[in-house]
Amino acid sequence: MKKHGEVLTASKEVDSMLDLLKSEFSQPDKIFLEPSCGDGNFLTAILTRKLKKAQDEETFFAALNSIYGIDLLKDNVIKARKRLAEIWRKQYKTVLKKEPEKCILNKTEEILTKNIIQGNFLELSDYRNLNIDVIIGNPPYQIVDGGGTGDSAKRNKNSL
Ligand SMILES: C[S@@+](CC[C@H](N)C(=O)[O-])C[C@H]1O[C@@H](n2cnc3c(N)ncnc32)[C@H](O)[C@@H]1O
Repeated sequence: MKKHGEVLTASKEVDSMLDLLKSEFSQPDKIFLEPSCGDGNFLTAILTRKLKKAQDEETFFAALNSIYGIDLLKDNVIKARKRLAEIWRKQYKTVLKKEPEKCILNKTEEILTKNIIQGNFLELSDYRNLNIDVIIGNPPYQIVDGGGTGDSAKRNKNSL
C-alpha cells in the first residue's frame, strides 16, 4: 500500500464529489477518466449514475464505452473491470428484462479490456486524443521515499 499510495475512496466521498458534477450525467456518452482508478470505486459509481436513465441497449453501451480507467496495478484493473461488468449486467437485466446474450457480454468485455487498463498514467499519451469531459479520482499521495524533503519532493513536476 505504501509504495503505490493505494488508499481507496469510500462511497460517501465518491458520491459527494460526483454530486458536484450532476450536469455531466445528462448525456450517457460524456467521457470520464479516472487516471489512478484503484479497483474502481469512482468508475463503478459513475457507471451506476450513467445507467440510471438507460432504457435501451444503445444507451447501455454508450454509458460503458465512455468510462476510462488506468491503474498501475494489474489486480486493481482486473477487479475494476469485474465490478463494472457486474453492475452493467445486473442493470441490463433489470431494465431490459432479459439476461444479456453471450455476444453482448463479449462486447462489454471488449470495451472493458480497451478502456480499463493497467499502466502508468504519467507515461501514457494516448489519452490526449480523447475528448475527455471529466477527469476525476483520488490520486496517490504517498510517495516512495515518504515525501517532504526526499528526492520525490523535488520531482513533483511528474506527480499526478
Ligand atoms: C489513493 S489510491 C486511489 C484509488 C482510487 N482512485 C479510489 O479513489 O478508490 C491511488 C491508486 O493510484 C494507483 N497509482 C499510483 N501511481 C499511479 C500511476 N503513476 N499511474 C496510474 N495509477 C497509479 C495505485 O495503484 C492506487 O490504486
